[in-house]
Amino acid sequence: MNYYNNRRSFIKKASALVGAFSINSLFHQLHAESWKEATKSFEGLSAQDLAANEDYWSVIQQGYSASSSPIIILNNGGVSPSPVVVQQAVERFNQMTNQGPSYFMWQILDQGRESLREGLAKLGGCSAEEIAINRNATEALVTVIYGLDLKKGDEVIGSTQDYPNMMQAWRQRAIREGIVYKQLTFDFPIENDEEIVEKYRKAITPKSKIIHLTHVINWNGQIMPVKKIARMAHEHGLEVIIDGAHSFGLLDFTIPELEGDYFGTSLHKYLSAPIGSGMLWIRKEKISKVWPLVCAGDPRSDNIRKFENLGTRSFPIEQGIGEALNFHNAIGTKRKEERIRYLKDYWAKKAKEIPGVQIQTSLKAEYSCALAGVSVAGLNPSDLSSILFNTYKIHTTSISLENIHCVRISPHVYTKLSDLDRLVEALGKIATKSKG
Ligand SMILES: Cc1ncc(COP(=O)(O)O)c(C=O)c1O
Repeated sequence: MNYYNNRRSFIKKASALVGAFSINSLFHQLHAESWKEATKSFEGLSAQDLAANEDYWSVIQQGYSASSSPIIILNNGGVSPSPVVVQQAVERFNQMTNQGPSYFMWQILDQGRESLREGLAKLGGCSAEEIAINRNATEALVTVIYGLDLKKGDEVIGSTQDYPNMMQAWRQRAIREGIVYKQLTFDFPIENDEEIVEKYRKAITPKSKIIHLTHVINWNGQIMPVKKIARMAHEHGLEVIIDGAHSFGLLDFTIPELEGDYFGTSLHKYLSAPIGSGMLWIRKEKISKVWPLVCAGDPRSDNIRKFENLGTRSFPIEQGIGEALNFHNAIGTKRKEERIRYLKDYWAKKAKEIPGVQIQTSLKAEYSCALAGVSVAGLNPSDLSSILFNTYKIHTTSISLENIHCVRISPHVYTKLSDLDRLVEALGKIATKSKG
């Protein structure tokens, strides 16, 4: 095989593809074949080897308008941009809707939900009958938190490092119904599964009913051993709710293999679906016992669609999920996971060597992927984040939570190495100045 010929030919085909990304057409109609053709020369490469191949990833970068943003966006964990094809799809669906909303929305676009359900189920490795489509991870998870029957004195075990919306929902149940919400605190980063599992195990009492888990801790990017915790919880008769906001569309797993009972996620983070999209998974045999958050003709039904009675919502956003799935599938989850982990390692390993700079996240592959926290001695996180933005036009988010104090950096597939070089250079200058 002649690598250089293949490489030239890939670049040629890729240029055609990049052009196609930006014209007024949808990926699944026009690009699937040319993309398949263009990526043929990389077929034999492992996801790890491909992770460092800039020829391949430069094509993906150009599929995103965010790659040419005047500021460097390194908070994709907060919310991610959509590729151009997804933006175009939403615009088209919106134009179509406004030609006559009650017809085009309810008679036409509404028909697309079942194929979306199938597509999401395929990506999640589960049955479509276990997937409900909604607007964000909060809506998905709060449906379960408020929908489960619990009585006064029943215990729920969570952590102070779960997401605030979910903690607030559990606290509301504690105030209103007298359930007991116990929260553990971890000293992240931790590179020992047993230490984490043991902490949950020790918190279990005869009154414990539920463990609420976050798959990837949003504050510093720690990947939790959810499967081991879920297994242990089931041995004690507890149910497990998994917050997968930062894992779905990024890490290569199937939802059932996590062995939880309930799983909620945003789709507007690493899947790059339109902003305002989310998904709920409930193990089939558990659907009937969860009360819907909004309303349903038969609230005890075992039909997952009972969680989709949301009233009027944005059908263009919902239908845009389909284009995001096409784009994601054209890359493949494993490749995406490895590339984004490579990007995190690329900046974090260099930054770690700068005197005064500390990485607050494990760099072992099993404990982190996209997100990592960084701090500079002598600067608080919000000052560091402000300097990064005001002086270097690098947008990040600062975290100050009990025992986690850092600036969180989260690249995406469209992030360029040159952007990460700028980050490392900026950290170097800031650290030198802070010392001096
Ligand atoms: C761990 C975690 N769960 C849930 C959410 C909420 O996501 P959404 O805005 O889609 O409701 C976030 C948002 O960043 C998060 O980090």
